[in-house]
Amino acid sequence: MFKRFRRLRINETLRNLVSETSLSTQDFIYPLFVVEGKNIKNEVSSMPGVFQMSLDSILKECEELVEIGLNSIILFAIPTLKDSVGSECLDENSLISRTTQAIKKDFPNMFIVSDLCFCEYTDHGHCGIIDPKTNTVHNDKTLEISAQQALVHARAGVDMIAPSGMMDGIIKTLRKVLDDNGFENLPIMAYSSKFASGYYGPFGDVAQSAPSYGDRKTYQMNPGNRLEAIEESLADEAEGADILMVKPALSFLDIIRDIRNRSNLPLAAYNVSGEYAMLKHAGIAGLIDYDRVMMETLISFKRAGADIIISYHAKEACLLLKGK
Ligand code: PBG
Ligand code: ZN
Repeated sequence: MFKRFRRLRINETLRNLVSETSLSTQDFIYPLFVVEGKNIKNEVSSMPGVFQMSLDSILKECEELVEIGLNSIILFAIPTLKDSVGSECLDENSLISRTTQAIKKDFPNMFIVSDLCFCEYTDHGHCGIIDPKTNTVHNDKTLEISAQQALVHARAGVDMIAPSGMMDGIIKTLRKVLDDNGFENLPIMAYSSKFASGYYGPFGDVAQSAPSYGDRKTYQMNPGNRLEAIEESLADEAEGADILMVKPALSFLDIIRDIRNRSNLPLAAYNVSGEYAMLKHAGIAGLIDYDRVMMETLISFKRAGADIIISYHAKEACLLLKGK
C-alpha cells in the first residue's frame, strides 16, 4: 500500500506537472559592485565568484547576464573617497550615476535597482549621519540626505530605488521627494524587515562598509523578533512601499511566510553575502553538491512566499536553468 502522492512521483514529466513551485531566470535580481578605475575585476576572497568591477568590466558582465536571460541587477557603488556624511553619493556625477547611465545606454532593457544607503560612503561605515549625543545614526538627518541621494539615483535613470538603511519614515520621505520631482512612476522596494545579522559579514569586505565602531543594532532588528518584523513591513506598506523585503533570507523563512500571509504586495527575499559564502566554501571544500544545494536553497525562498530573490547565486542559477 502507498499514499497517492507516490504515484505522482514515478514519472518525471508528471513530477514536473504537479510541482508547486519553480524557479525561473525572471525571479532574480543580481547584485553588482562597481569601483572607480579601468579593467578592474577583483574577486572577493570571502565570496569566490563575486567581484568588485570597474565600469568597463560591469558592461562586459551585463552582456553575459543579458545572454542568459538575467535582466535585473542591484547596484552598489564603492567610492574611493569617504567622509563623515557620505558626500560622494550626493554628487550628480557620482559613480552610481555614471554606471547607471552607461549600462542604460548599452543595455536599455536591463532593469537597474539602486541600493540607497550611506554605509558605503561614510568613513565611519554607519548607514547615515552620526548624532554625536548618542554616537549612533541620527534618524531624521539621515532622512534629509537620503532624499537628496534618491534624486541623484532617479535623475541618473535607475528603474527602482531600494533604501537599505532601515531609517524610520524613509519610505514616506522618498515617496514624497520622488513625487514632488516628477518621478511618481519610480517604484520603491523597501528593505522592510531587515535584521541585525552576522550573515552580512562578507558584504563588509566587498563594499568596505563595516562600521568602524559600534554595530547596527540601533537601526536594524533583533533576529528574535517576529511580530516586530511583520509590523515593520506593514508600516512600510502603509508609507507607500511598492515591494517589501525580508533580509537575510535563509534563517528567516518563517518571516517571509508571515509577511506573505499578511500583505498582498510583492515580496523579495535577500539571500545575503554570508549565506552565499557558506554554500560556496562548502562546495569548494567538496562537502556538498553545490549546484543541488544552491537550487534547493533558492526554491525554499519561493516556497516560503517570496516573488523575487536577490542573490549572489543568481548568475549560476540562471546558467543552470538555461542548461548551460
Ligand atoms: C547596506 C547594505 C548591506 C547589505 C545590503 N545593503 C549591509 C548591511 O546592512 O550591513 C547586506 C547584503 C549582504 O550581506 O549581502 N546597508
Ligand atoms: Zn547601510
